Amino acid sequence: PTAIWLDCDTGHDDAFAILLAARTPDVRLLGISTVYGNASLDHTTYNTRAILEAIARTDVPVYAGARRPFSREPCYAPGIHGQSGLDGTACLPKPTVPAKSDVSAVEAMYRALSAQPSGKAWLVATGALTNVAGLFMRYPALADHLAGLSLMGGAVGDDFTSAQMGKLKGEGERFGNHTPYAEFNIYCDPDAAEALFSNPALAKKTTLITLDLTHQFLATSEVQIGLLGFGVKMRSEPTIDFVSTVRRLYFEIVNYFAKTYSEVFGFTAGPPTHDPLAVAAAFRPDLFHCSNTKRRAHKHCAGSPAPDDQQSGKQERFDVQVVTDGEHGTADVDSTSQCGRTVVKLL
Ligand code: BDR
Ligand code: CA
Repeated sequence: PTAIWLDCDTGHDDAFAILLAARTPDVRLLGISTVYGNASLDHTTYNTRAILEAIARTDVPVYAGARRPFSREPCYAPGIHGQSGLDGTACLPKPTVPAKSDVSAVEAMYRALSAQPSGKAWLVATGALTNVAGLFMRYPALADHLAGLSLMGGAVGDDFTSAQMGKLKGEGERFGNHTPYAEFNIYCDPDAAEALFSNPALAKKTTLITLDLTHQFLATSEVQIGLLGFGVKMRSEPTIDFVSTVRRLYFEIVNYFAKTYSEVFGFTAGPPTHDPLAVAAAFRPDLFHCSNTKRRAHKHCAGSPAPDDQQSGKQERFDVQVVTDGEHGTADVDSTSQCGRTVVKLL
């Protein structure tokens, strides 16, 4: 199995990322660090512990990380995830195992990841990048030791995303979700994102799961009902009393997410499943295909250049827009390296 450390701000889609990382036999989950984001750090840490309790993985150590960005006020997303970060379910168990505090979150991440053989372990982040940037600031050599860094964040501006967000909201061009151009995780701590994206040792092994991909993976009503365990083909409304608490928990989680995504963004077909895709990219990279985006240049994967790259025979710049307070800054993810990549399509 692939060794993974998960850094998250447990809200609705992070809960699915945890489920995937903690319950697939293909992954050995080394630990989880939490960050502010969807709600305050206290909430996201509580939610993380509660989810692990629900899925019977209280053996996974949880460390509370950053309470706020390096140089800004923290931002939260109550309009999407509720005040608690995980509103909408009555099935969340009370956590029985406290977060660990023997060392800091950054130290715990470092110890767990550096204890793995070189080139084997992945760091997956599905929240603001404060902890992750802090980790590489403190331990720069870890970049060479890791197999990869998979991040859910950013919006490159693929036509699909732009059309989806723009058309549904009746707006002009729009491909971010927190502002017209900014994706929430990057928006929360753009300085942390910039620190990571400008680190040449990391560009070589970073996989960026942007909204361009995640907006193609909607938890449709069939998928939602499938969570209840009656199979996705079921036509009639199942009686949820007969369903296990864990299934009901995840059903309620996705339902709340569907409701807010529909109200706030007009996603009537179901909410995007952002965060689990970043976990999947770490242990099933074969499922992902990197392809060019029109607006912001081209990217490439080690060993499998996108068709257009093959034709043109050259690698071009790949930028991710980082937007704060209406100002555009650009974080250069990858200019000439061989394997930094963004994923915009799943095979
Ligand atoms: C990202 O923002 C958060 O609200 C979600 O959990 C996800 O990680 C999507 O932009
Ligand atoms: Ca998240």
